[in-house]
Amino acid sequence: MAILVTGGAGYIGSHTCVELLQAGEDIVLLDNFSNAKPEVIDRIRELGGRDFPLYAVDILHREGLEKVFAREEIEAVIHFAGLKAVGESVAIPLDYYQNNVAGTLNLCQVMARHGCKKMVFSSSATVYGTSTDVPFREDSPLSTTNPYGSTKRMVEDILRDLCASDGEWSVCLLRYFNPIGAHKSGLLGEDPNGIPNNLLPYIARVAAGKLKQLSVYGDDYDTPDGTGVRDYLHVVDLAIGHLKALDFTRSHKGAEAINLGTGRGYSVLEVVKAFEKASGVKVPYQMAPRRPGDIATCYADPTKAKKLLNWQAARELEEMCADTWNFTSRQG
Ligand code: NAD
Ligand code: UFG
Repeated sequence: MAILVTGGAGYIGSHTCVELLQAGEDIVLLDNFSNAKPEVIDRIRELGGRDFPLYAVDILHREGLEKVFAREEIEAVIHFAGLKAVGESVAIPLDYYQNNVAGTLNLCQVMARHGCKKMVFSSSATVYGTSTDVPFREDSPLSTTNPYGSTKRMVEDILRDLCASDGEWSVCLLRYFNPIGAHKSGLLGEDPNGIPNNLLPYIARVAAGKLKQLSVYGDDYDTPDGTGVRDYLHVVDLAIGHLKALDFTRSHKGAEAINLGTGRGYSVLEVVKAFEKASGVKVPYQMAPRRPGDIATCYADPTKAKKLLNWQAARELEEMCADTWNFTSRQG
């Protein structure tokens, strides 16, 4: 039986597919390529060392999903497919609710029809909203400040209700903190279209000379150097967390929310310094006003992941920066 990876051609999905293949799991990859490049598939095959079935299907397309489940023997689903840009979600909320919420409903209905009741879901630390109660624990209060965050919270609720209604379901709601970095080979990484919204892709493009300078959004936060503090984790550590979560769904029932983060925060200026050290390239920056919706500090309490999944992040910030640079400096 195989693991269906929705959104498997994306940033986190592609790294997870490689780890799954290397661990001997069979996979089926599904993606509509709305935010991924087709050449990623060959790179996953190359790094994973094995072939796998690929479906260019949209999770909103019920018949397409039915076809996948009719043709393949799917044991469990790792569900990455979704839209993820906070600012865009404010501009086009209906697209976000449709893709992320309605798409997940579709997927769960097809899974249930085929007796497939194990899922690992990509949730986000964004569900902790503007809380200042750091480090965030899984039982910290939830709130959301934008449609993207609301879709993650709604899907968490839907999956919890589903598990409550049918004791055969087993779901891990993985709340990622800030995934960065790239595969060691430099063949997989994060390469967003247009001007990046997130810190690391922006810094990497400044270092590559494609953007002039970084704007540091706010230097008057209540943090050691005044700039925002986040819990950055290496995308390969995050990918490995999915394998552990998959194993957990094989031996437990019900829904479980689990943070995946390192438990340690770095400020924007610390990240700039670490990147300069890892790349040997200067990253010019200017201070700019706070970005609306940002909070001062966000980092995980990772105790539950260690306890339930036996997972903890292994890679340090310097390695995350070096791998980001190795990937970005190879892009045309
Ligand atoms: P990504 O955009 O690189 O990957 C998502 C993939 O899903 C893309 O390949 C895209 O083409 C595909 N996709 C989107 N809508 C689809 C649909 N309707 N049908 C089929 N495929 C579809 O994003 P990522 O960074 O790899 O994130 C993966 C998941 O993790 C997302 O659900 C995201 O919300 C969540 N997440 C990401 C972060 C982060 O910082 N990257 C943080 C927390 C949570
Ligand atoms: N930042 C800058 N300049 C930039 C970009 C970011 O100073 O050009 C700062 C931000 O103000 C923040 C930090 O860098 O202090 C990190 O910002 P990111 O945009 O990289 O990440 P966020 O923590 O804002 O959000 C990310 C994802 C969300 C997700 C959240 C938690 O974009 O979708 O992590 O997982 F919900």
